[in-house]
Amino acid sequence: MFSDQVIANIDNALRTLTGQQIGSDRPYPARDVPDALLRPWERQRAGRMMRVNHAGEIMAQALYTGQATGTNDPALREQLQQARVEEEDHLRWCEARLRELNSRPSLLAPLWYSAGWSMGFLAARRGRASNLGLVVAVENQVEEHLNSHLDELPADDERSRAIVAQMRDDEVGHAEKAEALGAEKLPMPVRMAMGVFSKVLTRGALWI
Ligand SMILES: [Fe+2]
Ligand SMILES: [Fe+2]
Repeated sequence: MFSDQVIANIDNALRTLTGQQIGSDRPYPARDVPDALLRPWERQRAGRMMRVNHAGEIMAQALYTGQATGTNDPALREQLQQARVEEEDHLRWCEARLRELNSRPSLLAPLWYSAGWSMGFLAARRGRASNLGLVVAVENQVEEHLNSHLDELPADDERSRAIVAQMRDDEVGHAEKAEALGAEKLPMPVRMAMGVFSKVLTRGALWI
């Protein structure tokens, strides 16, 4: 029903932007990893990197919500919602790590959310294959980005690394599922625009 959709969208936006994640009951990946004594500048750098990842997960909430809203296919909507719940775990874990590192979420969160939602909704309106194509394109991009963070995080920051590694594995799973369901490759200009936007997000959230 239309009004249910509106409420679900408002609910997701508000919960995402105010840090009220629910997600599933998967445990915090860093729970058993000892917290190394990081030097102040390492802690600051790790905090900035986790802020970028947190901003990416805000965008993931927005994308999947926009995509689930824009599709007419109830089975696909269900799939997208399932992935979105896993992404909510990612958001929760990033936020917990941000707190441990005395860092903060990006001040541009509403911008990341609106951009993600619009992108997701538009892809969904183009049809099922394009909707799934967006999942594959985004998740591949995120996988590559998280792999770079596994290399670049401060050497002793195994807690952040445990979170990033689990997220990366989940993103690979999301892409594979979408691929199997019949994703199409997005047109080159769209992929290029996504590349530019991901640079804006990874640079912007590093500082703001
Ligand atoms: Fe994620
Ligand atoms: Fe994902």
